[in-house]
Amino acid sequence: MDLILRPLEPSDEVEFIAALGEMENFGFYYETGMSFVDYLSVLDRALLGEGLPDGHVANSLFVADVGGVVVGRLSLRHSLNDALLTVGGHIGYGVLPAHRRKGYATAMLHHALPLAGELGLTSVLVTCDEDNIASRKIIEACGGVYENSYTLDIDVPKRRYWIDLV
Ligand SMILES: CC(C)(COP(=O)(O)OP(=O)(O)OC[C@H]1O[C@@H](n2cnc3c(N)ncnc32)[C@H](O)[C@@H]1OP(=O)(O)O)[C@@H](O)C(=O)NCCC(=O)NCCS
Repeated sequence: MDLILRPLEPSDEVEFIAALGEMENFGFYYETGMSFVDYLSVLDRALLGEGLPDGHVANSLFVADVGGVVVGRLSLRHSLNDALLTVGGHIGYGVLPAHRRKGYATAMLHHALPLAGELGLTSVLVTCDEDNIASRKIIEACGGVYENSYTLDIDVPKRRYWIDLV
């Protein structure tokens, strides 16, 4: 499959703004009215753990690009804090509605694993809602080993999986 994960680039502005309207949480840290150049700077600083909201760790945002078309996004957290260890995990992803059920999310998670390894991680935690059948399949197809489900103070239990990178 001709899918790559890459950072956002200045030329993605129009597609990015359209994607924001198509999927909730497509662009973390983007605020209405922010210039795209400023947003790219926010993401650059997020890589270094700078300028982040309380409780956020250094992270990378990638878009999934298929033949020059942005089909989804993936967020890679560089470390875990308590909230990420119980619920959020290292990696989150989403595929734009028009591009779902083509194997893209599975390819995105697969491609993210070596990127996590480059950060020095030896295993990654990936979580999904108990009722998110698609995400369960994606994580399990990428080698996720189920540890347990976190249930405290959340509406839908989170299934917690570890993927070994070594
Ligand atoms: C969940 C999501 C990422 C799946 O993306 P996708 O690109 O459609 O997933 P894939 O095409 O790689 O499909 C993976 C598997 O899930 C299945 N699947 C996909 N969507 C499904 C759905 N709505 N219901 C049931 N199964 C589904 C596919 O058939 C495939 O199964 P297979 O391996 O047996 O063939 C996408 O629907 C999405 O972005 N949803 C909203 C955000 C979200 O839930 N993110 C994940 C948070 S953990």
